[in-house]
Amino acid sequence: MNKKIIMSQERLLHGGDYNPEQWLDSPDILKRDLELFLKAGINTVTMGMFSWALLEPEEGRYQIDWLTEIVDQLYQKGIYTILGTPSGARPQWLAKRYPEVLRVDEKRQRNLFGGRQNHCYTSPVYRQKVRKINVILAKELGSHPGVLLIHLSNEYGGDCHCPLCQEKFRGWLKERYDTIEELNRRWSTTFWGHTYQSFEQIESPSSKGELLLHALNLDWKRFVTAQTVDFAAQEKKAIRDGGCQKPVTTNFMGDYDGLNYRKFKGVIDVASWDSYPEWHRKPVPQTAAETAFQHDFMRSLLKKPFLLMESSPSSTNWQEVSKLRKPGILHAASLQAVAHGSDSVLYFQLRQSRGASEKFHGAVIDHYGGEDTRVFQEVCQVGETLGRLSELAGTVQKPKVALIWDTENRWALFDSQGPRNAGIPYKETAEKMYAGMRRLGLDMDIIDMEDDLENYRIVLIPMLYLFRGGIGDKIREFVKNGGTAVMTFWSGVADDTDRCFLGGVPGKLTDVFGLRRTEIDGLYEGEENAALPVKDNFLSLERRYTCRNLCELVNVSDARVLMTYEKDFYKDLPVVTCNQYGKGKAYYICADMEQQFYNDFLEAVQKNDKIEKPLPDIPDGVEVTTRESEEATYVLIQNFNADSVNLKLPDHGCEVIYGETEGSLKGLSSVIIKI
Ligand code: GLA
Ligand code: ZN
Repeated sequence: MNKKIIMSQERLLHGGDYNPEQWLDSPDILKRDLELFLKAGINTVTMGMFSWALLEPEEGRYQIDWLTEIVDQLYQKGIYTILGTPSGARPQWLAKRYPEVLRVDEKRQRNLFGGRQNHCYTSPVYRQKVRKINVILAKELGSHPGVLLIHLSNEYGGDCHCPLCQEKFRGWLKERYDTIEELNRRWSTTFWGHTYQSFEQIESPSSKGELLLHALNLDWKRFVTAQTVDFAAQEKKAIRDGGCQKPVTTNFMGDYDGLNYRKFKGVIDVASWDSYPEWHRKPVPQTAAETAFQHDFMRSLLKKPFLLMESSPSSTNWQEVSKLRKPGILHAASLQAVAHGSDSVLYFQLRQSRGASEKFHGAVIDHYGGEDTRVFQEVCQVGETLGRLSELAGTVQKPKVALIWDTENRWALFDSQGPRNAGIPYKETAEKMYAGMRRLGLDMDIIDMEDDLENYRIVLIPMLYLFRGGIGDKIREFVKNGGTAVMTFWSGVADDTDRCFLGGVPGKLTDVFGLRRTEIDGLYEGEENAALPVKDNFLSLERRYTCRNLCELVNVSDARVLMTYEKDFYKDLPVVTCNQYGKGKAYYICADMEQQFYNDFLEAVQKNDKIEKPLPDIPDGVEVTTRESEEATYVLIQNFNADSVNLKLPDHGCEVIYGETEGSLKGLSSVIIKI
């Protein structure tokens, strides 16, 4: 793959959100910012997302000069701009004159002006006003050599239940189902006699109305995504119509589940996201693993380098507790994003605002304004490191392992009123499988059901309740052709409108896995069972592992049983099985197992499949990833423990390009080798 993949930059981007519009009356501050940016190795700023009221102070009167001037000044010093479109927060005049742009909530109440990212994404007026300002920005700044990238809006999200959206929803459904009879059939509306006689009767889900028709809820969420994607596509079109050909992104929020981010694939040229882990709530290595999952998810959207668009240089001010990041965390977290495929480390925010709701959010330059702050010094270190790692820009990851993490599945799973309303361990199961595999240093893609499986050797499939996008056939083909699938309990239960499969589950895959689910037991909080190894099982599993929350009972036809339940009326029934199907293997995990199980089991699977690890011995709490270009392979090794660990690098053919190791790696430090 061609290097320089992002915006022809041969370097990693460093910088972040910058709001000079808040300081236009203080030229000394703007001047000082520039000096400090250069000191900190900042080469990129993101501007304009919240500038609409200044860019268009009255309807139709545009003033872009102040922004152009700042873009110019920054560019002269080698600092590039990511240009935001301002649709995320509208001016007062717009809301007052055209109330239809204001969102209506699920109780059918219209918002007053205020806040942000709360417009109606259907409103023709809003779309038209956004189009106008975007065209003008594209004309004025879209070809400026200092503008790298266009940043659509800011964190798209939420839904609108206004009459315009309702009408659009009905049209979307008509397109999808053609007739009302078909919709009734697919939505199972004969239940409680909620049959629709016409599309006109359909209303979006509401706590004052219909909330228990799962297929309606699912399709509403799909529609909200489709309408938001369409809004973004219109924003992009305006940028292109204004003559700007720069790549386009929008900043996602990791595992925010209000939107199915996959559907933005056709609109964005670069994936980017805002990462705000709570680094000190859990042990740091665990937070690192959870954050890594999110980075991999975001990278896998386009399967090329992504951008870390926002991260806090110290604390946030919107989480329960505004915890400072301990020394060293910022550097490790920043490098971790790069290790997982980011070509940037960008912050929210470069200069702390003086008033309003984010005045206490961490920033590179705080209210004191000096460079002798702990945070500023740490940002300088990050800048220094990124400056030394330019050759990583544009390099890619080529994972052999994928995990299916599917937003539509998540919607259906949590709405299903199934085996455990007290908590469904979807994320937990996905994270346990991910962590178990990542301990081995194997890179992973986090894909969804619409992706192809054929490029992978192992595919992990946690709790894939809903099957869509031909996933059943894909899994079958994948295993038949020699792949290894590891699927868990509560998979293959329902189709894409949440109707249960008839005739045996996992749906259409009972022969591939060599078993059939008969029942699933929900466990109370604190209740446990355990899995015991079957003597001489071919993976040599030897330990006892506890299981909680959900225990599935299966009838095995062809599969081999590797572990069985310890107790309850299903004592001795299978917990872990493996079926040979075609040239591949289909493993099935019947219960919500503890982390240690996934560590041991996935290591045994990796050995059995003879998949090579990048390093032979990886201590706990150490992350290993690999980025490649046509010329070289880079292995990034990060110790997320507080203390040193022993680390043995390959004996031959590798050059240490970053960090120090003499047989050990210090706490929170990293080493990068080039092969
Ligand atoms: C989000 C937004 C930013 C800012 C930060 C604060 O990511 O995009 O504008 O509000 O949160 O953490
Ligand atoms: Zn609306």
